[in-house]
Amino acid sequence: MSDSEDDNIPRLSLHILAALQEFYAEQKQCTDPCEEEKYNIGIIDENWQLSQFWYSHETALRLVQETIAATGEGGRIACVSVPSVYQKLRALHRQDFSVYIFEYYRFAMYGEELILYDYNHPLDLPEKIAAHSFYIVVADPPYLSEECLKKTSETIQYLTQGKVLLCTGATMEDQAAQLLGGKMCNFIPKHTRNLANEFRCYVNYDSGLNSES
Ligand SMILES: C[S@@+](CC[C@H](N)C(=O)[O-])C[C@H]1O[C@@H](n2cnc3c(N)ncnc32)[C@H](O)[C@@H]1O
Repeated sequence: MSDSEDDNIPRLSLHILAALQEFYAEQKQCTDPCEEEKYNIGIIDENWQLSQFWYSHETALRLVQETIAATGEGGRIACVSVPSVYQKLRALHRQDFSVYIFEYYRFAMYGEELILYDYNHPLDLPEKIAAHSFYIVVADPPYLSEECLKKTSETIQYLTQGKVLLCTGATMEDQAAQLLGGKMCNFIPKHTRNLANEFRCYVNYDSGLNSES
């Protein structure tokens, strides 16, 4: 190719090229975080339209400790609408447990462990999710309404072999007891932001969360 032909080929300036490279690097970071980042609480920003309010690190850690104490070695754990617990479990216990995250939209980075889930269709679950195949179900339904808790409870009862750790509003105490046999714990879950509603944990088994604040 002669110099004059070569000059006719459109070229990007170095500035534009650098900006493009930066853009693609950022895109890759958002869609393809490294293994470690993937399990940080907050990697997915809160979307309040979807009722996404994340626990503080301390609360997520405490709920993971509780879940593990209740599960024992090698048990299967279902995290229903409670991504911070899934993330913390995976960050701390990579190999020890089989864990699934049941979530709605935005969590594709968790691959095979993500079960797409909408509480409006409580039993619309893939075939690989057999009835009563989880030792414990941890759940935090998106809305503080009887309808939402009722439907989420259908999913919880389908999934669990017995144990349930539910986090939801203090106002849901009666429904948590009726629907899942959940007793309010002394432990109070905290969020990364101050929420107007008071939140509580409910369990249907003997738990360390009962005796602490
Ligand atoms: C109140 S937040 C609980 C999150 C919890 N505090 C945590 O830190 O993991 C409710 C969760 O429900 C999920 N969600 C929103 N709409 C949903 C739907 N239609 N079906 C099931 N889950 C839904 C949200 O993505 C969010 O993770």
